[in-house]
Amino acid sequence: MATRSNRRSTRPDFRPTLSRPQGTVYRAGWQPDARFRTIVAGRRWGKTFLICEEMRRAAREAVRRNIPTENEIWYGAPTLKQAKRVFWKRLKRAVPESWMAAKPNESECSITLISGHVIRIVGMAEYDNLRGSGLWFFAGDEWQDAPEAAWAETIRPMLSTANGHAIFIGTPKGFNHLRDWYIKGQPGGEPDCRSFSYTTLQGGNVPADEVEQARRTLDARSFRQEYEASFETYEGRVLHAFSRADSVRPCRGKLTSTAPLILGIDFNINPMSCVCLVEEGGTLFQVDEIVLPTANTDDLVAEIRSRYARNGSLAHITAYPDPAGAQRRTSAGGRTDIGILQASGMRVIAMSSHPQVRDRNNITNARFATADSVRRLFVDPGCRKSIESYERHVYREGSSEPDKSTGYDHLPDALGYACYGKYAYKPPAQQHINVFGR
Ligand SMILES: Nc1ncnc2c1ncn2[C@@H]1O[C@H](COP(=O)(O)OP(=O)(O)OP(=O)(O)O)[C@@H](O)[C@H]1O
Ligand SMILES: [Mg+2]
Repeated sequence: MATRSNRRSTRPDFRPTLSRPQGTVYRAGWQPDARFRTIVAGRRWGKTFLICEEMRRAAREAVRRNIPTENEIWYGAPTLKQAKRVFWKRLKRAVPESWMAAKPNESECSITLISGHVIRIVGMAEYDNLRGSGLWFFAGDEWQDAPEAAWAETIRPMLSTANGHAIFIGTPKGFNHLRDWYIKGQPGGEPDCRSFSYTTLQGGNVPADEVEQARRTLDARSFRQEYEASFETYEGRVLHAFSRADSVRPCRGKLTSTAPLILGIDFNINPMSCVCLVEEGGTLFQVDEIVLPTANTDDLVAEIRSRYARNGSLAHITAYPDPAGAQRRTSAGGRTDIGILQASGMRVIAMSSHPQVRDRNNITNARFATADSVRRLFVDPGCRKSIESYERHVYREGSSEPDKSTGYDHLPDALGYACYGKYAYKPPAQQHINVFGR
């Protein structure tokens, strides 16, 4: 497969090719359902690079479609200073000299093409002074920082005469207008808008170890915002009612020597995942987590025993395991995962069949926060892997299926079995009977 380094050509007008995600966005351009495109991407994804190619194409399209020359092609950054610093040199390199009617106009920051069309860079902070021409194409870079009113008051009316197109590119900044644009471009949004979201890593310009370094040095929220284009992930979070600010609360102290314990268990071999909860006054507190790489159910029971046994007994524990554990045998001797748990002396409530994933997640979300903001589920800050997973477990892009490829699904599943089993499951009577333990 061609890589960037071997795609080089000896042609004097050589231009590096677009990366795959850049190409996806580019190909969507100039279609009726994508008159206004929004790209939300992490830092260094190649946003400005893509705009360069978009500007060149807009110029070609203006000529091809015989667009009257008073309709200009603009690059807009939040301020003119920023536009000059980030784009002016790049633009001059991107526009072939053979297209130019004259040298670029340095004071106006514009290039007039032999066709008569004008490419210009502008600052959005000065949007009030920009009126006066029509617009054929507008590219808004760092759009999250542009004043929101610039669009409705200046840019949008200018695009009307020639039915011009626009692209907005940025990195998330909370739930501001860039996010509104993103949502407009998603299914169910506006018919002429399309939006895309990519992480820095997907851009292919920043190596994975550099991204990892950033992960270690930035706080989680900044990292997600800057490198993972995070409002998209907020939007797509499976446990959307979980909030680091509101759901994380020190509660490890509730793990006393007398409190009954509730375990939610996902039988996954790598990692075997288990959450430990205490219920108090109708509220659940996650006091601990167990995440065992490459482990079987015997290993999990040994770990549970070493952490929670009281006088050698596990009888104070009620476990809500993944119902799949009734069938799957992880060890010799015909034992099942659930059988192993039962043999340990815990009370095991094994659901007879899998609950609908959506029902399970709805129950868990409702524990984290009801529609009227009552929270009945809290997580101790020491449960770091759980917190990370609850925040980062997302739906697969463009679907309502949770993404199982990230590894963030196991702890939410474990928690979901406990919440569903405890609050929603109506078991046949015999399933409460612990056959081995007593
Ligand atoms: N398709 C590509 N081929 C070769 N180089 C590329 C490509 N896309 C981006 N780059 C290079 O990757 C680097 C980052 O690109 P760019 O400045 O466009 O990213 P950005 O997303 O705008 O970054 P920032 O978040 O800092 O604004 C630049 O050096 C750019 O030349
Ligand atoms: Mg940029």
